[in-house]
Formats: sequence, structure tokens, C-alpha cells
Amino acid sequence: MTTSSTTASSTGSSTARPLLQTRGLTMRFGGVVAVDHVDFTLQERELRCVIGPNGAGKSTFFKCLTGQLVPSEGDVLYRGTPIAGSGSHRIARLGVGIKTQVPNVFDGLSARDNVWIAAAKVAPGRAAERRTDEAMARVGIAAIGHRLVGQLAHGQRQLVELAMVIAPEPDLILLDEPAAGMTDEEVDRLVDLIAELNRSHALVVVEHDMQFIRRIARIVTVFHQGAVLIEGGVAAILTNEQVRDVYLGKQAASPPHASRGEVSAQRTEGS
Ligand SMILES: Nc1ncnc2c1ncn2[C@@H]1O[C@H](COP(=O)(O)OP(=O)(O)OP(=O)(O)O)[C@@H](O)[C@H]1O
Ligand SMILES: [Mg+2]
Repeated sequence: MTTSSTTASSTGSSTARPLLQTRGLTMRFGGVVAVDHVDFTLQERELRCVIGPNGAGKSTFFKCLTGQLVPSEGDVLYRGTPIAGSGSHRIARLGVGIKTQVPNVFDGLSARDNVWIAAAKVAPGRAAERRTDEAMARVGIAAIGHRLVGQLAHGQRQLVELAMVIAPEPDLILLDEPAAGMTDEEVDRLVDLIAELNRSHALVVVEHDMQFIRRIARIVTVFHQGAVLIEGGVAAILTNEQVRDVYLGKQAASPPHASRGEVSAQRTEGS
């Protein structure tokens, strides 16, 4: 069923060692094959978008990369080092940061304290303070640093989580539905931030909002039923008939934010 691929690296170098590579990556939950023999390659400082209908395996794929799940089969190589099955702390220390789909924040603490906790895991004392302030300024949430996270709007919580991800200064940033619940202004800031982060970091971004994907993406990987259906340039992928069929097969109505003839998808919160 896999008809990939245009795995062209945006770095232009085909001989460089990839930052991240999976080979035959498979995750089964009982009889459900959530990730099915996925071969995925990401170069240093590449920005990749991952799309696919609900239940396609995108979040499970991310969890296998970060050590939240131990894959049933296959390899994950980070700069050539096998990391599948390593603990999530070790993988985080190697330089992989994730903003999960389900919010992963302490509601009873302030925004700044949440970011500080993330920074303090990798940096002691003053360095943690500096990283906290830098991450908050970068994301644009310095002004709400004192507010309890539990009292923030969903989009603002997403920004707090984003600051928590970048505070440890990871080389690879995984973002699972980062634009969910954001206002238009917050999405604009997120688009700029992703472009800025991509100057020095590799990113993999999962999103359902195709307008957002069009604004940030170059190469897009499409997941379907746990496998990579196709990979290629954003314009070709978003008008690809096979990709459209996959989405239409999963949902009856055409939601907003999609141009005629373009792939559209429904956003979900949590899974
Ligand atoms: N912990 C789990 N136990 C059992 N099944 C699971 C578990 N996590 C995910 N699944 C199943 O694995 C499949 C892939 O789920 P996953 O959450 O990775 O999809 P997704 O592409 O992220 O979907 P969405 O776009 O809705 O977030 C689904 O069938 C889901 O029900
Ligand atoms: Mg998901």
C-alpha cells in the first residue's frame, strides 16, 4: 500500500548522516497495529510535517521516538545511535523534545514555574533561570508568566508547553498538533516561531489544519493506517488524489479551512 516517496532532504545533502531514522518501526497494541513498518528519515535542521486522518498512528509514532512507548519491532536511530526502548529521560538528554497532543502541564503552577521545571531538568541554578526567561520571551508569554496554567486558555497553554519544549534547547523538536485551540494571532506567532526555530533545530510537526500546514511545510509525510502512504512536496501532497481519498474515507463532512480540491482534515483534542 505504500507508494512513497520523495524523501528529498531540505538540506540538499544525500550523503550526510540523518539526524533521525526509523527502520521497520512497528507498534502493536494487542491486535491493533498502530505503527506499521515505518521507514522515516529526517536530516539535521529539516522541517517535516506529518499528516493523516484520525487514528493513522501519528501520535504513537512520536511516542516511539521519545521513549514514551517501546516499539514492538524495528529501529530508531538518533545520529546513528539506536534509541528504541531507551528511557524517555535518556532520549530527552540526547536532545529530543516533544510537545504532546494531550497537554502535559502542571495546572496548579504558574506558567513560568512550568517552564522552569523543564529547564531545570537539564540545566542547574542560574542557567535554568536564563533558559526559562529566554524560552518564555521567544514564545511570547513573558507577560503571563505569573498566571496559573490551569486558568489559561487552551492556546496559551499550548504556548507554555512550547516554551517547556524549547527551554532544554533540544536539537529535534516534535510538535503534536501545536496549533489546536489557538487564536489566529497565536497561530501567526507559532508560524513565525517554527520558521525561526527551524534555522537551528530540526522539527517534525503533526497538524490537522491544512492552512497551517501550507504555511509552514516543505516536505510532508502522510500516515494512513499506521504506515507511510506517501511523502513529497507540500503542494503535490495537498492536491494528491490518493491522500484526499484517505481523508474522505474517514469523515463525512468537509470542514472549514480547506480550499477546493485540497485535502482537509478534522482536528481533535487528545487521544
Ligand atoms: N495506548 C493504546 N492502547 C491501545 N490502542 C492505542 C493506544 N494508543 C493508540 N492506540 C490506537 O492506535 C491507533 C493510532 O492512534 P494514534 O493516536 O497514534 O493516531 P493519530 O494519528 O495520532 O490520531 P489523531 O489524529 O486522532 O490524533 C488508533 O487505532 C488508536 O486507537
Ligand atoms: Mg494524535
